[in-house]
Amino acid sequence: MNSWEGGQCAEMAMVCLTDFEKYAKEHLSKDTWDYYSTGADECYTRDDNLLAYKRIRLRPRVLQDVSESDTRTTVQGTEISFPIGISPTACHGMAWHEGETATARAAEALNTCYITSTYSNCSVEEIVAAAPDGFRWFQMHIFHSRDLSEKFVQRVEALGYKALVLTVDMPYFGKRRDSLLKQSTLPPHLSLKNFDGMLPEHETSVPGKQVTPSRAIDPSITWKDVHWLQSITSLPIIIKGILTKEDAELAVEHGVQGIIVSNHGGRQLDGTLATIDALSEIVGAVKKRIEVYLDGGIRTGSDVLKALALGAKCVFIGRPVVWGLAYKGEEGVREVLQILKDEFRLAMTFSGCRNVAEINRNLIQFSKL
Ligand code: FNR
Ligand code: LAC
Repeated sequence: MNSWEGGQCAEMAMVCLTDFEKYAKEHLSKDTWDYYSTGADECYTRDDNLLAYKRIRLRPRVLQDVSESDTRTTVQGTEISFPIGISPTACHGMAWHEGETATARAAEALNTCYITSTYSNCSVEEIVAAAPDGFRWFQMHIFHSRDLSEKFVQRVEALGYKALVLTVDMPYFGKRRDSLLKQSTLPPHLSLKNFDGMLPEHETSVPGKQVTPSRAIDPSITWKDVHWLQSITSLPIIIKGILTKEDAELAVEHGVQGIIVSNHGGRQLDGTLATIDALSEIVGAVKKRIEVYLDGGIRTGSDVLKALALGAKCVFIGRPVVWGLAYKGEEGVREVLQILKDEFRLAMTFSGCRNVAEINRNLIQFSKL
């Protein structure tokens, strides 16, 4: 008999992702919570990323023999167990003492894709050593110093990272009121380890300064710098931060291998479309020439189903991963992924789909509310 059948829950059971959010809010320091949760300006876009899913209704099909179901899919040709990966988020060491090594082990255990942030507290070498069989992509920026960017590319190629995720929606840091007020700092025992020995002293993060060496990012980059990146790597390049069909078309024309429809969790330009609302026009423009992914606001299995029905090949989650870390490190992230996977499987089968290939646009009804 499980605890629910007993009619009472003996210990705190984590049932859905918002349980992890509540736990993290109660247990993290206020500064850390504010850094993770904040959005830009009035946080309209951060919040709309979630609300937008509630405006979309599903049209389930029944009597489809869903006795067997299969959640596997592929991204860039690699099989993952379910279409939910981990978005790059900075500074996991503020949520859990093992930092990104715990995240990497959880992703490896659940067999999904972990996009490692440039701004991790563990080095990419430590992350790979912790989960040697994990499937990983590396999130990067193009820095003023192309030499520095090139060194990062060479490092992660040598470590077996399978793609480069170029973040293009952060020429500068968004105006995040909570973080600005406090000049969000890294606790003294943490650093942005990937930069050790790689940046001049004045550009590194120091206590009392903003949490990232954001001044290293080159705000002047254009599509010609994407060509430069292509010229120094043979890895697939995925552009993260596209929100319009115009930019999606340019991404295809410039020969990149994928797009992540993203507004950085509402942390950059406040007032953009929610990502799920931007997805359709982008999928329409791309016409299956490259893979389209999405992040922002995914909190339930039916959110994942809606994104796939509207054409995303896979979705990624940001904040729920740091909530999982705050709860129980690797185990907490595993639980977050497992809960979302189970919810997704249920939503898929309740819709009459036995596998991800059967999920399609006919499942969707945009609400008139
Ligand atoms: C981010 N995000 C982000 N993106 C990126 O390209 N590089 C990064 O280092 C970070 N860091 C980061 C830190 C924190 C605390 C958050 C919340 C977000 C954006 C992230 O990849 C993703 O786009 C959003 O988090 C997705 O939205 P949800 O799932 O958090 O709603
Ligand atoms: C953030 C950066 C690090 O959103 O991407 O905090």
